[in-house]
Amino acid sequence: MNTIMIDRGEMDTGASPAEPPLSGQAPPSTPALQSLPPSSSTAPALSVKDLCVYFGPNQVLRSVSLEVPARAVTAIIGPSGCGKSTFLRSLNRMHDLVPSARVEGEVKLFGQDIYGPGVEAVLVRRRVGMVFQKSNPFPTMSVSDNVTVGLRLNGLRRRALLAERMEQSLVMAALWDEVKDRLNAPAISLSGGQQQRLCIARALAVQPEVLLMDEPASALDPLATAKIEDLILSLKKDYTIVIVTHNMQQAARVSDFTAFFYLGELIEYDTTSKIFTSPSQKRTEDYVTGRFG
Ligand SMILES: Nc1ncnc2c1ncn2[C@@H]1O[C@H](COP(=O)(O)OP(=O)(O)OP(=O)(O)O)[C@@H](O)[C@H]1O
Ligand SMILES: [Mg+2]
Repeated sequence: MNTIMIDRGEMDTGASPAEPPLSGQAPPSTPALQSLPPSSSTAPALSVKDLCVYFGPNQVLRSVSLEVPARAVTAIIGPSGCGKSTFLRSLNRMHDLVPSARVEGEVKLFGQDIYGPGVEAVLVRRRVGMVFQKSNPFPTMSVSDNVTVGLRLNGLRRRALLAERMEQSLVMAALWDEVKDRLNAPAISLSGGQQQRLCIARALAVQPEVLLMDEPASALDPLATAKIEDLILSLKKDYTIVIVTHNMQQAARVSDFTAFFYLGELIEYDTTSKIFTSPSQKRTEDYVTGRFG
């Protein structure tokens, strides 16, 4: 079931290179909310205010407010079931695909409300790409077609441009050297770590502004994990990245800011070094030191 939803979402992300912003405006400067980590100097890419998410009668997120700085890595941590994936999915309107889901509150992408009237989810997903825990390439489709699928779905036909964007995306995903001689092989012939980087290349091909990653390395061995982490660090100069991880060392290694969620609430949000060395909340300290969760 998850896969069907994911595939649809991924297919919806196909973008044209010249896709205009949601309302064609430049990102405005937004007044800092209290929820912005204190040492962030960049304007927020995402501003989330009083976000509540329900599945049927169950409230899963409780009035979450936070600002995600642009061109930085923000980690979302917390025990299983606390709402991390639910939060991430609300940042690119993935819940639109779940009939029982209801989202309240505000999510602004560079100042524009992604849930605003007339804003299409498909356009939002082109600007906010997503990579999932379980890599989900189209298994029988070739490596190159997997990368360009979003572009082609969006009507891009020029072979030279498709080839250029395919190579660029694979280079960015640190996969080009490993697959350049087998671009026509089926995606399923790649290793697990390569398939995950292929999914990252597919997400990058449509040139999103924000990349959401839900435990992107949890199924990978240490070497493949290190490659994904290096990739995240290299991408952050151009992209805003929000990553969910259960791996505290990983959060500490790759992220600039960390948000700790517990039972659907944002408990603490600060620089990663503060969260891991001197958090202000006891529950955060207990979690990052492994006392629960
Ligand atoms: N599509 C859905 N329909 C109904 N309930 C859902 C749905 N998705 C998530 N939930 C519920 O929302 C709560 C939070 O789930 P979520 O997947 O966000 O947790 P998580 O923090 O990502 O956990 P994990 O670390 O295990 O991935 C859970 O109780 C879950 O059962
Ligand atoms: Mg999850």
